Amino acid sequence: MTSGRGLWITLEGGDGSGKTTQSALLGRWLEDSGRAVLRTREPGGSEVGQLIRDIVLHHRGDIAPRAEALLYAADRAHHVATVVRPALERGDIVLQDRYLDSSVAYQGAGRVLDAEEVRDLSLWAAEGALPDLTILLDLDPADARARLDSADKPFDRLEAEKGEFHGRVREAFLALAAGEPERFLVVDAAGSPEAIAAEIRARVETLLR
Ligand code: TYD
Repeated sequence: MTSGRGLWITLEGGDGSGKTTQSALLGRWLEDSGRAVLRTREPGGSEVGQLIRDIVLHHRGDIAPRAEALLYAADRAHHVATVVRPALERGDIVLQDRYLDSSVAYQGAGRVLDAEEVRDLSLWAAEGALPDLTILLDLDPADARARLDSADKPFDRLEAEKGEFHGRVREAFLALAAGEPERFLVVDAAGSPEAIAAEIRARVETLLR
């Protein structure tokens, strides 16, 4: 375990799978039970990361695939070193939207980059740090798209990718979860937010014991 005294939980899944909602519900529950919680995200969980987030999500025009992978890795390196590790050393519970599995799934799913190389790049960036638990909110990309459409927000660069891209991202996440069953909890994100939250709490409780 790389997390020091605290507990490190990441949430993964396609765009529109409900990560932010679940992170908020879990965070509130943990705080109500008296725990110190840090909610954060990638990209953009630090000041430097905000600048990188702006580039990777809102730059008009192409970014070369390797440059994009390096930008996410740079965000990750700074975030882990300056935000996540210090929080875990304090004993906090870190709840994080997205981590290196997103890089493997998204940057690897373009099929240009090798998934293993993308993962190794992130592991180098984060000095090998891996979460105690990764919650994968699994959802059919068509359902996720319907949720995003109804949210009426402009799409960022990755959200605007075609449906088949999101299908590959989903498969990549499921393959990652199958390869590391002890780190992952896969949740059917089509259920009600309350039912999903209860499933997540049950798993987190076992880690807190
Ligand atoms: P996210 O912050 O979840 O977007 P939103 O808050 O709008 O739901 O993620 C932003 C996008 O960044 C998402 O489409 C996935 C992508 N992403 C990658 O491609 N690689 C990565 O390593 C990470 C962390 C995110």
